[in-house]
Amino acid sequence: MRIAFLGKGGSGKTTTAASFIRHASGKSPFVLAFDADVNAHLGAALSIESEPPHLGELFTPITEYLKGKRTDLGEKPMIMTTPPSLLSNFIRCQFDDPLIAKYGRRQGAIALLTVGKYEQADVGSACYHSKLSGAISILHHLLDGPNDIVVADNTAGTDAVATSLWFAYDMHIFVVEPTQKSVQVYKDFIKLLPALADKTYVLGNKVEGAEDEQFIAGHVAADKLLGFVPLSKHLKRFEQGHPEALELFQQEQAKVFDKVLATLLAQTRDWNLYLQRLRDTHLRLCHEWYNDFHGLKLDEGLDSKFSYQAILLPPLPSETPKKD
Ligand SMILES: Nc1ncnc2c1ncn2[C@@H]1O[C@H](COP(=O)(O)OP(=O)(O)O)[C@@H](O)[C@H]1O
Ligand SMILES: [Mg+2]
Repeated sequence: MRIAFLGKGGSGKTTTAASFIRHASGKSPFVLAFDADVNAHLGAALSIESEPPHLGELFTPITEYLKGKRTDLGEKPMIMTTPPSLLSNFIRCQFDDPLIAKYGRRQGAIALLTVGKYEQADVGSACYHSKLSGAISILHHLLDGPNDIVVADNTAGTDAVATSLWFAYDMHIFVVEPTQKSVQVYKDFIKLLPALADKTYVLGNKVEGAEDEQFIAGHVAADKLLGFVPLSKHLKRFEQGHPEALELFQQEQAKVFDKVLATLLAQTRDWNLYLQRLRDTHLRLCHEWYNDFHGLKLDEGLDSKFSYQAILLPPLPSETPKKD
């Protein structure tokens, strides 16, 4: 199941995503962490010293790998919304998955992937969505199961919804400070995407006392408010160079993160709806832009027999080759 941390800039997305990843990695043998913010700080927040390769620079090798043995594309390139084929390479939530082993950085039970930062060459020319394209293709080829944990730290505001990421997550969590502006980012999101309101939750952050809690509770439906993280003096101590304070910061949040984790694992994914949305988005993007840009019909001739179920379901006994 995939959870995306969203919210206003500075609300604490990276800090709480990192704490949640650490918390979840104590309960599960594998957590896939995605830094989907071009202001990449998740690795630092997780104290992962070796920086992962930047997926934002690696769209060509990533899609070469994901193509696998597919024959439906011919000479056509993959774009970030190209739906998979039955012959594609897929990605599994495990350390020895070839793509995760190549591009991820491991720490304990955590594997970190990152889209990377803007480089000098991007100044004035690159858009955030092109940086995200490798990560987006990976998510559309990721076969995570109901007990797998995938955590994405996103860019500020509601920008992520302008890409096919809007349907790529099973749960969204808005990190909200007890201020009007911070709450407004959450309200804007559910207004823009009512279809996602049901799986979009709120985590109050930097909360000092009952007044702050009541303020946030006054803006969010009770079943969508998962709890509060206090304004933490332990976090400040940790950021001042006292590593022992991290454990105290984690303990402060253990209860609320148990609830976030339980809520995540209670989500369900409709793979058919996922594929439908991917196909619809791909068609629209091809017609609006990509077909003209490439001078090719990138939406035509694609593997119509593909379904995620066909890849995920174990073969029927009658389809399993008999051993001699
Ligand atoms: N619960 C908290 N208590 C104290 N400080 C916090 C808390 N959460 C975040 N911060 C601080 O707020 C600042 C912004 O947090 P960050 O996670 O980088 O925000 P975002 O990723 O949303 O831009 C950082 O300096 C961080 O240390
Ligand atoms: Mg951040």
